[in-house]
Amino acid sequence: MKPDKPTNYWDYIRVDDLLSLQGGLESDESELTNDEVLFITVHQVFELWFKLILRELGALRDFFHQELVDDQEMSKAVRSIQRINVLFRRCASHFEVIETLTTREYLGFRDKLMPASGFQSAQMRQMEILLGLDDESRVPLGLSESYMEALRGHGGANSTAFEHVAAQKLDGPSLAVAIEEWLLRAPIDGVRFDAPDADAGLARFIDAYIDAAHQEVSRTCEIALARSADPAEEDRLRARYEDEKRAIVEFLNPTDEEGGARRRRVRAAALFVVSYRELPLLAWPREVLDGLIELEQVMLIFRQRHARMVERVIGRRTGTGGSSGVDYLDRTALVYRVFRDLWAVRTYQIRRESNPPLANPGFYDFANA
Ligand code: HEM
Repeated sequence: MKPDKPTNYWDYIRVDDLLSLQGGLESDESELTNDEVLFITVHQVFELWFKLILRELGALRDFFHQELVDDQEMSKAVRSIQRINVLFRRCASHFEVIETLTTREYLGFRDKLMPASGFQSAQMRQMEILLGLDDESRVPLGLSESYMEALRGHGGANSTAFEHVAAQKLDGPSLAVAIEEWLLRAPIDGVRFDAPDADAGLARFIDAYIDAAHQEVSRTCEIALARSADPAEEDRLRARYEDEKRAIVEFLNPTDEEGGARRRRVRAAALFVVSYRELPLLAWPREVLDGLIELEQVMLIFRQRHARMVERVIGRRTGTGGSSGVDYLDRTALVYRVFRDLWAVRTYQIRRESNPPLANPGFYDFANA
């Protein structure tokens, strides 16, 4: 839309509206200390970054959820992941600003907040849901209420926060599921997922990979044994490397409870993409998988950074929301993961020269792009 008069910075950015929002419960900034205005402003800055992250996550999910993911568009998806990663990193570094509050400065206005808390941040929950964190994996808040109940107003009243999160739960698959759908369709060693010999091709790749990985583990074990200074440790070392061999077989042969044949193909596809990462047609998929690992890593760092900031400002006391505080936050940083298979693939990769030779490497050349 063409503006009917020349645009001003203040009209476009809505600076006056934005700067009128830091008055807190009093709706009047002049009643507040600088410490409290800082506290409110920093939270608002976070919520703005969260808003941008949510938009990018939604677009990414829609992109990978398509029946036919256009390879030509993949660079945009990678840029979107990179943007999210920069935003999360920025969020983590923002905690520095809050750390300019001393414990007593914060205690000066903390009572007012109760029982409000960051765990009522609807956008945080929306990001988690959109990424694929399911309800069963959530760390209990330590209160009887669920994270959804915590989003209700006093006396169980409805709230926009509750509505936003409830709507997010109904809004299509998560990014993790959309990525799985995309990986399910990836050709493995030149055999398309819908080819008549798709299952045979998959089995061939998995068998060859397990063989190669076992040889690599044996080789590493020999090096470890040869350099071990303590002969008493040898049995322990051997057992450890045998466990590694077993683990890769189990990873590539998931049980039905773990998702059976579907998960087997997803895991093999992820392993294939990162193992043969130099193949021209795998360049963008490889960047997607690397970017998603980084995304989860920066989000975990964000959680850990928040926990350390909290420990520095309030120690290990109970949170305003009633959780165990730092203990609860540390636990979320430990267990909240959605891209578990992508992490696992890091464990099972081997040296480039030890990868099994491909039956059909020409399939992944530029000529086929
Ligand atoms: C002095 C500053 C802060 C303190 C002491 C603090 C403390 C806490 C505590 C103790 C919790 C656990 C829930 C509870 O019992 O309340 C929590 C949760 C949370 N806080 Fe903060 N926080 C601070 C600043 C921030 C800021 C600036 C943000 C940015 C948006 C933030 C975002 C969150 C989020 C998203 C959660 C939910 C985490 C989850 O459930 O996974 N907090 N905070």
